[in-house]
Amino acid sequence: MTNLLSKVAALSTTFFWYARPLLASSVLGCAPTTFSDLRLFGGTISHIGTTIYNNLSLVVPANQNHYAKNITKLTVCEVLITYTHPGYNDTINTLVWLPTPASWTGRFLGAGGGGWTTGADNVTLAWAASEGFAVVTTDGGHPADVAIDEWAQISPGNVNWILLQDFASTTLDEAATLGKLVVQAFYGGKPTYSYWNGCSTGGRQGHQMAQRYPDQYDGILATASAKNWGEMLMQEFWPQAVMNDLDAYPTSCELDAVRMAAIEACDALDGLRDGILAVPGECTFEPETKVGQQYNCSLTGLSTTITETAATVAKSTWKGATSPEGDFLWYGLEPGALFTADAATTCENGTCVGAPLGFTEAWIRYFLTMDSNYDVSRVNISIFDYLFHQSVNRYDSIIGTSDPDLRNFNKAGGKLITWHGLADSLIAPGTSSDYTKRVYERDPNAADYYRYFEAPGVDHCRGGNGWFPGSAMQSLIDWVENDVAPETLQAETQGEAAGRKANLCMWPKKLIYVGGDADEASSFACQ
Ligand SMILES: *[C@@H]1O[C@H](CO)[C@@H](O)[C@H](O)[C@H]1NC(C)=O
Ligand SMILES: *[C@@H]1O[C@H](CO)[C@@H](O)[C@H](O)[C@H]1NC(C)=O
Ligand SMILES: *[C@@H]1O[C@H](CO)[C@@H](O)[C@H](O)[C@H]1NC(C)=O
Ligand SMILES: *[C@@H]1O[C@H](CO)[C@@H](O)[C@H](O)[C@H]1NC(C)=O
Ligand SMILES: *[C@@H]1O[C@H](CO)[C@@H](O)[C@H](O)[C@H]1NC(C)=O
Ligand SMILES: *[C@@H]1O[C@H](CO)[C@@H](O)[C@H](O)[C@H]1NC(C)=O
Ligand SMILES: *[C@@H]1O[C@H](CO)[C@@H](O)[C@H](O)[C@H]1NC(C)=O
Repeated sequence: MTNLLSKVAALSTTFFWYARPLLASSVLGCAPTTFSDLRLFGGTISHIGTTIYNNLSLVVPANQNHYAKNITKLTVCEVLITYTHPGYNDTINTLVWLPTPASWTGRFLGAGGGGWTTGADNVTLAWAASEGFAVVTTDGGHPADVAIDEWAQISPGNVNWILLQDFASTTLDEAATLGKLVVQAFYGGKPTYSYWNGCSTGGRQGHQMAQRYPDQYDGILATASAKNWGEMLMQEFWPQAVMNDLDAYPTSCELDAVRMAAIEACDALDGLRDGILAVPGECTFEPETKVGQQYNCSLTGLSTTITETAATVAKSTWKGATSPEGDFLWYGLEPGALFTADAATTCENGTCVGAPLGFTEAWIRYFLTMDSNYDVSRVNISIFDYLFHQSVNRYDSIIGTSDPDLRNFNKAGGKLITWHGLADSLIAPGTSSDYTKRVYERDPNAADYYRYFEAPGVDHCRGGNGWFPGSAMQSLIDWVENDVAPETLQAETQGEAAGRKANLCMWPKKLIYVGGDADEASSFACQ
């Protein structure tokens, strides 16, 4: 109690004067007893803890579908719920951050994770709370700081199906249920509207909610989505398989020289030379035409020439994964995307080796070959073909998240906005257009509840020199609450490229320059 009172006393006076009567109830309500009636069907709650954070100050970068923001004087009540699924012997930690009643908008938010991490970090929670959301996230049964190597298998050779399922879907549904119960207990009323926000794994999770738990969220912002999990994870490894097959690994500067040549060749296709490619599928640049061209490598300080190997790696990365016979398996990165993620190499003393993403390496080891010591540099194109099939065939129903049937989400009145950076260096944007195409084929009126926007020049979730749609959550709120369906998403360039605006187009339309100031949104049209 003393501790609690000293925390109350530490509140800023500016907050104190208007919120004094509320403060007593909000902060004093932030106690485990407030939540002692919480029950979860299928789960046994073992612990409920609460913490009050007063006067938080945070510098929040542009990330998780929102612009940068400096947060000050944030007060929240944190509720931690620990539970298990009896018989499964799992431990799930679900966290809710509650803004004070005076600053709560009545809205509830589920915050997604990234990579193998199920949930959001406290910077994302603080952002959401500062925007007036009561926000929930979950560790999905494996804390963020526990590496995939430690939980993927229950014993050598045996997939930990329970934790995979917790990660894939069940704990996301439970987080929404628990979060809403916490809201009810704390504020004395249900949320007026519920939203999802996530990118990459968080984008997959948002789609999983729409597909499998269509009643939980009214609005879902699910971007650069890692859906088609089985295909997508192998797609991220594809350039490595190509290099293993060639037994040659170009330096990152050589591949970047090819990337720059592609941008040079295709930059004007959208009507404007600005280093951003906006019309996917139309760049017919052939990298082999640049073999022998000179480039300067800052890595080695040497002036050297583009090799046939680099041309082949670039071409295959853009073409996407195929069988050894050349049949389509999955989409490739767009020309213009950095090669430093999926096609990463590291070089020492003039010798380069492949540097696959740890994320995909773990998938191949623990879920496909079942061998924790498997040397992924063995994966040539023919082994890749075999593993690709395993990846899709064995895991699709658990974590594939590729079902285009959103009829129940539509019936529940849900709306989903997705966007994908066309310069994504990890997940092929084709993953998003393919899914959208399938959703629209099944239901020609699907634009009533599902809209996909391409973000030219944006890397994975953020970064790059393109236009980042950091107010997409507001567009989603307007759609859900005011029935204003977004035709475009307002977007702005970030970081070193900051200062340009554009309105991103709804797929399949492309962002085309039509004349005028290249920094202004009015100089572009959707065609
Ligand atoms: C709130 O935090 C700011 C920045 O950290 C600090 O300057 C200020 O003194 C704090 N106010 C109170 C009442 O603790
Ligand atoms: C946050 O604060 C820093 C330094 O105080 C400032 O440089 C930056 O522009 C601020 N960012 C935003 C988004 O306001
Ligand atoms: C349950 O999990 C704990 C570790 O999380 C482990 O120590 C224990 O042996 C497990 N119990 C059973 C019955 O598997
Ligand atoms: C946020 O998380 C970091 C660790 O990632 C921790 O050091 C910090 O204390 C946390 N802050 C709050 C307010 O929970
Ligand atoms: C490489 O650097 C040298 C010296 O700075 C310069 O003369 C040359 O034009 C550069 N070549 C390329 C292809 O950029
Ligand atoms: C690179 O060269 C250094 C110095 O000669 C040596 O210590 C290091 O082991 C070499 N690395 C590899 C991977 O050969
Ligand atoms: C791929 O690797 C396997 C196993 O090392 C080998 O048997 C096979 O011949 C390789 N395939 C090609 C096309 O090189």
